[in-house]
Amino acid sequence: MNPEIAIVGAGYVGVPLAQVFADAGKRVVLVDVVQERVDMLNRGESYIEDVPSETLQKTVTSGLLSATTDFDVLRDADAILVAVPTPLSRQREPDLSFVLSAVGGIAGRLRKGHLVVLEATTYPGTTREEVLPVLERSGLKVGEDFNLAFSPERVDPGNETWTTKNVPKVVGGVTPECTERAAALYESAIDTVHRVSTPEAAELTKLLENIFRSVNIALVNELAQLCDRMGIDIWEVVDAAATKPFGFMPFSPGPGLGGHCIPIDPFYLTWKAREFGFYTEFIELAGKVNEAMPYFCRSLVSQALNHAKQRAMKGSKILVLGVAYKPDIGDMRESPALKLISLLQNAGAEVSYHDPHVRSFNEHGLALTSVPLEPAAYDCVVITTDHSSIDYAQLVDDAGLIVDLRNATGAKGTASEKVFKL
Ligand SMILES: NC(=O)c1ccc[n+]([C@@H]2O[C@H](COP(=O)([O-])OP(=O)(O)OC[C@H]3O[C@@H](n4cnc5c(N)ncnc54)[C@H](O)[C@@H]3O)[C@@H](O)[C@H]2O)c1
Repeated sequence: MNPEIAIVGAGYVGVPLAQVFADAGKRVVLVDVVQERVDMLNRGESYIEDVPSETLQKTVTSGLLSATTDFDVLRDADAILVAVPTPLSRQREPDLSFVLSAVGGIAGRLRKGHLVVLEATTYPGTTREEVLPVLERSGLKVGEDFNLAFSPERVDPGNETWTTKNVPKVVGGVTPECTERAAALYESAIDTVHRVSTPEAAELTKLLENIFRSVNIALVNELAQLCDRMGIDIWEVVDAAATKPFGFMPFSPGPGLGGHCIPIDPFYLTWKAREFGFYTEFIELAGKVNEAMPYFCRSLVSQALNHAKQRAMKGSKILVLGVAYKPDIGDMRESPALKLISLLQNAGAEVSYHDPHVRSFNEHGLALTSVPLEPAAYDCVVITTDHSSIDYAQLVDDAGLIVDLRNATGAKGTASEKVFKL
């Protein structure tokens, strides 16, 4: 039987989205360029932590979900959703090559009645200025022959409370009919759909959400650095401020931004704003503060070794605890731990890592394998990611020195005898 929905890009966004539609009884096909991913999906083996293999297996066996590398399958689907990566180039400019390649593959198969929705995070104008012209090269007209909309994905990997199904979906179409068609599709599987008037509004909505986080994290990171000089515990201050029942939302300081979205997406807007002679200064400033955090954290490790052990960084054995970009998942994309490890190595430290979710990695010129958690074997343990499976009380007992960048040990004050906190 033909699939009703095709999702181009079987990653963190595409796979959970496919599962949600299949749960609603829709026939879904995932289209990806990586054969290995397609083979795994067709065997019911999930590589995305948010979709357990048992769940995927059942859906695949029921015939509701399949995967392929063959774009020809798009001809038969009613709706085509695009969830491919939108990274930054080496010059930190938007790299739409994945989107344009996927859309090129769709254009050759576009037919009357198709609905195409871009889900990949991008700057306002992408759907209308970049995607639409490629699709209309087929000779078909938007609004008359096919529908086109933007609907940002809001997946939060590892979040069990807010999932693809119950996080409201924002939808903006090129024409009102495009919006309605896309909204109706999502309403068939997702609890709440919020319509906006244009794709540009939907595109900017997603960026606003990510910029909001980036700016607020930068604010608290800046205060953390000031607190270090003033001898005040930033975590205690944030906790106290969070007791205010209105007008305040707590953000945590940390070693830097991580994940696919927050360190990258804001710069999509910065780039686009320049076309309008406009400088998005909050975004740039937040980027500057957040990108400096691994350097600040390296100096904290150096100070801790100096004060507690009378040791130089050079030659010290350091265990980085947690390399994923956030707790309880194995996602390392843009993880600040990578930058911190490089900085510690460059300063002459001998760095190992332990992470229950990341057995080994080979990224950013670093190739490391997780070592057993034996804190006493190191001059310093640096808590970079606060995975909940770690026994932090035991860690404090066993380690000679800890630099806690996540307040995982719950130590009070900025420095105790052996726990130095961000
Ligand atoms: N991961 C998140 O937490 C998250 C959250 C919200 C939004 N987003 C956005 O969603 C989009 C997708 O992100 P992701 O995290 O799912 O990426 P991902 O890297 O996990 O998956 C993307 C998939 O697309 C495939 N792909 C690449 N080019 C392709 C092409 N031309 N045709 C078909 N498949 C292709 C890749 O092989 C990969 O399997 C990005 O714009 C991202 O910013 C991601």
